[in-house]
Amino acid sequence: MAAAVFAIPQPTSDSGHKLLDTTTSASFDEIVGRSTALNRVLRDVEIVAPTDATVLILGETGTGKELIARALHGMSRRKNCPFVTLNCAAIPTGLLESELFGYERGAFTGALSQKIGRFEMAHRGTLFLDEIGDIPLELQPKLLRALQEKSFERLGGTRTIPINVRLLAATNRDLKQMIRDKSFRSDLYYRLKVFPIIIPPLRERPQDIPALTEHFIQKYSLEMGRQVETIPSGTIRALMTWHWPGNIRELENFIQRSVILSSGKILRAPLEELGSDAIEPAGGTLEEVERRYILRVLRETVGVTRTAAFRLGIPRPTLDTLMLKLRITRGDFVQKTSH
Ligand SMILES: Nc1ncnc2c1ncn2[C@@H]1O[C@H](COP(=O)(O)OP(=O)(O)OP(=O)(O)O)[C@@H](O)[C@H]1O
Ligand SMILES: [Mg+2]
Repeated sequence: MAAAVFAIPQPTSDSGHKLLDTTTSASFDEIVGRSTALNRVLRDVEIVAPTDATVLILGETGTGKELIARALHGMSRRKNCPFVTLNCAAIPTGLLESELFGYERGAFTGALSQKIGRFEMAHRGTLFLDEIGDIPLELQPKLLRALQEKSFERLGGTRTIPINVRLLAATNRDLKQMIRDKSFRSDLYYRLKVFPIIIPPLRERPQDIPALTEHFIQKYSLEMGRQVETIPSGTIRALMTWHWPGNIRELENFIQRSVILSSGKILRAPLEELGSDAIEPAGGTLEEVERRYILRVLRETVGVTRTAAFRLGIPRPTLDTLMLKLRITRGDFVQKTSH
């Protein structure tokens, strides 16, 4: 076993499982990480939270969009009023309209009583429309109209109800591509994009991985009655090398599994699950080390070989030759994403 370099601070009380020194500031006490990329996001959150501006949160799956939405509400003037979420992907298309706007009794067959929609539930508070990219095309004009006129009618109703809601929206879809494919309206996109916040994927901020790992070890050790206190240095290196296509959610689940597998004080992470590139064979050959390092840079530069060559300090044709020699193909470093 490699030397254990990461000592995990042990919780002191039932509620003390959060590592305060790994959070960026006291107001973001659920958000762990101190990378420049994450700090940039949190700075934007701090700036826009107290305003009533619509915020569009963009990022791959598992990057923390919902966490950021909650932080925006928690740091806003509306924090003592409701935070209402509607996941547009989880509601059947036909029901989404009545979920948003509600209906009057008798509005349609089966409408036996009046129903209050999410816009009304969120009155004076924040409405978070999650997976906004999944909102059906036919409902988009009605949502846009409600946002622009700051009012709406319940289905089957005649009374115009004013909206006093701060809107947050999130998606992992490429809305610009959806506009080109004519599945998302550009007018709604520009209405939502007043203040976009883009959360970078975890592979672009590997510096956050040690702090996140410690945080999740503490969380799950407490939950499962384990006493993990140290992380082998090779494990941390492997975690920082993996490209985490499922981002923080994938890391969290992996650490949870590792904690379950660790009966002692040292974290036993099933690194073989992460694929061979994350595992550091003891004393690999120069060629193996070279291959791993080049692969890592290619992943971090999302497969843009010109940027990768620049980072590696070699001309691009040299990188092409090396890739050929080391049998590196595009499939080794380009992930399929939802974009
Ligand atoms: N910086 C962070 N610090 C601590 N936990 C985090 C951080 N970012 C994300 N998480 C955790 O990772 C998990 C996924 O986050 P969240 O649900 O906010 O992602 P998401 O972007 O909404 O994902 P999806 O697109 O799949 O809905 C949650 O359990 C969340 O608490
Ligand atoms: Mg989400």
